[in-house]
Amino acid sequence: MSDEDLSEVTSQQNAQRSLLVLSGANLQLLGSRQPEIYGSATLDDHMSAARDEARGLGFSLESLQSNHEGDLVDAIGQARSVHAALIINPGAFTHYSWAIHDALAACEFPIIEVHLSNPHRREAWRHLSVVSSVATAVIMGLGASGYPMAVRAAAALLDTQQPGLAEASTQE
Ligand code: DQA
Repeated sequence: MSDEDLSEVTSQQNAQRSLLVLSGANLQLLGSRQPEIYGSATLDDHMSAARDEARGLGFSLESLQSNHEGDLVDAIGQARSVHAALIINPGAFTHYSWAIHDALAACEFPIIEVHLSNPHRREAWRHLSVVSSVATAVIMGLGASGYPMAVRAAAALLDTQQPGLAEASTQE
């Protein structure tokens, strides 16, 4: 096998064990932003917990937060060839970003949508997620447990190579 082939195989193997966590608008403020709703953990706290969980399951984890929709669209487009699964809390973009919806729709790997709060228990405008229809699964309302849980869900989907239930039912 040539050096080039070997490095291609190695980067594919790395991608198979790599997760990306994307965070959208205002999530850099976690810890001080409405702690009665979002809790007192910072985004760094959540990412450390997610990274520890991933490491224990044999995955590496990268994370990115942006308040700019286009940054998230770019990151999703690039993730397709670099990561094995995506965990995303789009923040308020959840409720109206069709650009993020379309970027996610083009992905073939598991996508876990996470919300710290349960948007369905909140204002009516939060009840619509334009992301859920292209996510494999959604975890909401579990606060700080949500991110490690999302990592376990992504790892389980990858390690068993099972489609999410939604995909299974649309294939019937
Ligand atoms: C959120 C819920 C969204 O409605 C809100 O705009 C956020 C955070 C959550 O994690 O609960 O910014 O995604």
